[in-house]
Amino acid sequence: MMNYHHTPVLLNESLQYLITEKSGIYFDATLGFGGHSQGILKNLNPDALLISTDVDLDAFKFSKKKFNQEHRIKIYNYNFSQIDVITKIESLDGYNGIFADLGVSSFQLDNIEAGFSFRSEAKLDLRMDKSKGVDASEIINSYSEEELANIIYKYGEEKNSRKIARKICEFRKISKINTTTSLAKIIEDITSPKFRIKTLSRVFQAFRIYVNDELGQLEKFLHKSIELLTRGGRIVILSYHSLEDRIVKEIFKYETLDCICPKDYPVCKCNKERRLNILTKKPVVPSDDEIRINYRARSAKLRAAERI
Ligand SMILES: C[S@@+](CC[C@H](N)C(=O)[O-])C[C@H]1O[C@@H](n2cnc3c(N)ncnc32)[C@H](O)[C@@H]1O
Repeated sequence: MMNYHHTPVLLNESLQYLITEKSGIYFDATLGFGGHSQGILKNLNPDALLISTDVDLDAFKFSKKKFNQEHRIKIYNYNFSQIDVITKIESLDGYNGIFADLGVSSFQLDNIEAGFSFRSEAKLDLRMDKSKGVDASEIINSYSEEELANIIYKYGEEKNSRKIARKICEFRKISKINTTTSLAKIIEDITSPKFRIKTLSRVFQAFRIYVNDELGQLEKFLHKSIELLTRGGRIVILSYHSLEDRIVKEIFKYETLDCICPKDYPVCKCNKERRLNILTKKPVVPSDDEIRINYRARSAKLRAAERI
């Protein structure tokens, strides 16, 4: 694993938006294999500080080794929704920049044991933090047909959610669904070859988002992060599907409002404070060249905002 190569997505664009103070304090919420953290460090002065975290133990261990000679970085194995806890542990007041590159890494997808891919046989788990919560097989083998259909529809945006949920429930009467490939086989059997990969990706994404509560953790992280940005500090988020991107867009937009009173109130009673300026009217997306070199970048969207 020490030789694992990962190409960070939209690296230059992320750094341009993120770094305003070269001796500042920064937070990388999704350390992964350290691609963006390394880029951030390269652009900071010797007296700067970077706090980086990853909920995945393998990513944490890998990056801990990778940066063992670097005194400007502190590495955590915490969920990014605990940014406030990490900040307290470090006795910090806030950050000049907060960055996140959401989702799973290509290592997690390529690593058979991690069980994130439908292409290779592994335990049907899908948790990034294997020490917490329930795994995907428990959900798939115990939830009602309607609950399963709702998860597949809501988090996978898959229109055949009902049909897939019905098949899962028929199959599990005969045998428990405990592996990635047994779930994949059920989906493949009822999907035309043309849509197979897309459908499999959507269903696996749906259960992954659900078991990790990815959208709930993202919301918590964004609200806490805005609280923790110093004035003029930047928040930069890379997302890879519409559900995440919508949350980022809506929370940023809400934070640009200085009043949320109903329109017919003669005077403002809400005391809402405008806290952000949006820096990317439209999300920044990778160039064709970047997508050619790094296929994972194809669906990336970068949104950035500045604390007022
Ligand atoms: C796309 S990868 C990041 C890659 C990284 N930017 C790099 O260049 O190596 C996303 C990483 O975020 C981690 N992650 C996802 N959700 C998380 C969360 N809620 N808290 C902390 N880490 C999370 C995943 O485990 C994964 O390693």
